[in-house]
Amino acid sequence: MSEKEIRLEDIPGIGPKTAEKLREVGFTDPMMIAVISPSELAAIAEIGETQAAKIIAAVREILDIGLVTADKILERKQKALRITTGSKALDNLLGGGVETQAITETYGAFGSGKTQLAHQLSVNVQLPPEKGGLGKSAVYIDCEGTFSPNRIVSMAKAKGLDPQTALKNIFVARAFNAEHQMFIVDKLKEQIEEKNIGLIVIDSITSHFRAEYVGRGELAERQQKLNKHLHALQRLADAFNLAVYITNQVMADPSVIFGDPTRPVGGHVLGHFSTYRIYLRRSKENIRIARLIDAPNLPESEVTFRITEEGIKDVDEK
Ligand code: GTP
Ligand code: MG
Repeated sequence: MSEKEIRLEDIPGIGPKTAEKLREVGFTDPMMIAVISPSELAAIAEIGETQAAKIIAAVREILDIGLVTADKILERKQKALRITTGSKALDNLLGGGVETQAITETYGAFGSGKTQLAHQLSVNVQLPPEKGGLGKSAVYIDCEGTFSPNRIVSMAKAKGLDPQTALKNIFVARAFNAEHQMFIVDKLKEQIEEKNIGLIVIDSITSHFRAEYVGRGELAERQQKLNKHLHALQRLADAFNLAVYITNQVMADPSVIFGDPTRPVGGHVLGHFSTYRIYLRRSKENIRIARLIDAPNLPESEVTFRITEEGIKDVDEK
């Protein structure tokens, strides 16, 4: 049975009240229940753990989540699309632009260009495919209050897009804390097709988590939550063939004595989920250096690009 045909009420153990509760917190799809733990479900639906375990078992029984043949995976991967960054050099570094069905992360010091790239991609996703876009809209989850409609207008004009239309195709959500940020992502599922979303931006993924989970004792919990958050993003990327672009802050690693002590926040948890990880740093004037880190099928190399009034460009481009 395909998951589309099953309503929450069809699952043994889920009554109308529990179904309502689950939908309220964004669990519209039985698959979302199949992949969480009984204790998580118990907390979310405000039911006992025994009942939660029974529901999960029933969902797994109904859903065909067992095995996928490799040709299906290949078929899905072949549908992956690319969004241009505005710089050919940076696109090449990523193997052709920012990829759908994947999470692309940039990390770097302040002013390194993470937010500028977020704006540029939100414009570029709207371009037709022959110009490096997907002809789709963007969701922009702003965690630092740095989204700038004026920047969108400048970048849209430079790309020959009508600025008003470009602004209308970017759905901005201001996330006030980590919990809110996760809630927004969980809620997105219902909106993606209706709003024709091809890109989800989160700028930055770690700032709230870092501020809210301070002491050492809270590190494990922070990483678990981040893990779950990234899982949710990857599921959206796969299910809707969309691109996810996240930015990340850096911190100094005191154990590094020689070389660059800059490390991304969230360490291996983020590294594990981000298919493409780019370290950005400033060079002279408006030039930025992008280094691809740990990409499985691409060489670890560096390119340069420029941030101009019109947006992101190649260094030698006018
Ligand atoms: P944090 O969020 O502070 O960690 O930094 P970030 O990596 O997000 O930096 P961001 O992308 O905001 O880059 C800021 C830099 O982009 C500025 O220092 C400028 O060099 C450049 N920039 C931003 N807006 C403009 C603009 O309108 N014109 C030009 N020419 N450059 C701009
Ligand atoms: Mg920023």
